Amino acid sequence: MPQKLHIKTFGCQMNEYDSSRMADLLRASHGYETTAQPEQADVVLLNTCSVREKAQEKVFSQLGQWRLLKARKPTLVIGVGGCVASQEGEMIMRRAPYVDLVFGPQTLHRLPAMLNQALKKRPQRAKVVDISFPEIEKFDCLPPPSVHGVKAFVSIMEGCSKYCSFCVVPYTRGTEFSRPFDDVITEVYGLAQQGVREINLLGQNVNAYRGATHDAQRVVEFAELLHYVAAVDGIERLRFTTSHPLDFTAPLARAYAEIPELAGHLHLPVQSGSDRILKLMKRGYTAADYLACVEQVRASRPDISLSSDFIVGFPGETDDDFAATMALLERVGYDQSFSFLYSARAGTPAADLPDEVPLTVKKQRLQKLQQRLTEMAAAISLRMLGSEQCVLVEGASRKNPAHLAGRTENNRVVNFAGRADWAGQFALVRITEALPNSLRGEVLHVENQPLQNRPPARQVA
Ligand code: SAM
Ligand code: F3S
Repeated sequence: MPQKLHIKTFGCQMNEYDSSRMADLLRASHGYETTAQPEQADVVLLNTCSVREKAQEKVFSQLGQWRLLKARKPTLVIGVGGCVASQEGEMIMRRAPYVDLVFGPQTLHRLPAMLNQALKKRPQRAKVVDISFPEIEKFDCLPPPSVHGVKAFVSIMEGCSKYCSFCVVPYTRGTEFSRPFDDVITEVYGLAQQGVREINLLGQNVNAYRGATHDAQRVVEFAELLHYVAAVDGIERLRFTTSHPLDFTAPLARAYAEIPELAGHLHLPVQSGSDRILKLMKRGYTAADYLACVEQVRASRPDISLSSDFIVGFPGETDDDFAATMALLERVGYDQSFSFLYSARAGTPAADLPDEVPLTVKKQRLQKLQQRLTEMAAAISLRMLGSEQCVLVEGASRKNPAHLAGRTENNRVVNFAGRADWAGQFALVRITEALPNSLRGEVLHVENQPLQNRPPARQVA
């Protein structure tokens, strides 16, 4: 019977992508099959996130649960990867001595060799810590990604060199580097051949991509890469996460007019609407610069849906600073977004800033911001009622396996009745119901190519 691997992922899409690559890697090297049940596993891996304290705290409580599993099954191998592993290194083993492997986001490709060490019989059996930053070697050592369904992530760059004053990512994932252009296109081509229709390009600052061609004669920038990816046969929908306002160029804004495959949704994190706070955050732009990006992209795609990340309660944030964020919200009109209470991260410059704002005030501000964001997203859902939306059919609905599910261009989940063999095709769906986290609809038409969205036939009050 094949050995079983269980991976638990905390944090962002980048971590989800890394976890699926770990599974690909250990399937190729050791024949491991993944299981959702840690009790059935021979190897359990925790892919961690340290962007906020809460996610970091969860690591040791999860490991505590796995310790009980290991007490029942001493051969169980426990590994910890991701940003907490990168930051804490051997400290993890000191606090949780039953952990066998610690690896960082840039050394996950060395997992098979590390696992071999951990699997040896005593006394050769060894605990392994490898949290170095060998950069591009990672992608050269990974097997081709396996495909699950009609959508796939493609990581095009790693790390971050922006050093926002609040963020640990540059320290845990290393500085920014882009994968070679030809490697990215080869990966997309391989995915398309396996039936993938939608590609989501990933990077901490995905639009900072600058990938060299293999002959090293040229560097391809992000907007140009989008044209190449969209031109791959079979790829009909394109998304990317996360883009940074500083790297938002005119060619990228134009891409929304020029590339029909580019979904009408842009996640462009602003963090704050106050220039004073943006400066303290070292974001490198003002609220006016951000609004200029929004204007540019709306000139190319007037109905584009925009979302953002917000940090509330940054050290020293005043009522006026917060009011500037709320004003920016109204100016832009956001769709479903993410908002966080500032979390001080050891080693980042912001952690040393004086912070006299009481936690209760910060929490009130966050609640106010989230309430307004929820209202804005609900209003957008209501406006979609009666409209006809192009949905890429992904397969059975999670809520009701007898139904199908897919996403609209603005990334809303839609559930509808239909035939299982529509997966991978595009359905024109009339939206009949707007629920808090999803939409319901009825299928009007199914085709192999994307269909044109249409507004509601009548205005819904
Ligand atoms: N590169 C992206 C950007 O444009 O800023 C963000 C990547 S970051 C890993 C994801 C989000 O986590 C950020 O946009 C920010 O809102 C949030 N974040 C990062 N550090 C944080 C902290 N110390 N406290 C609260 N939220 C934080
Ligand atoms: Fe973090 Fe800022 Fe980079 S939020 S990931 S340092 S752009």
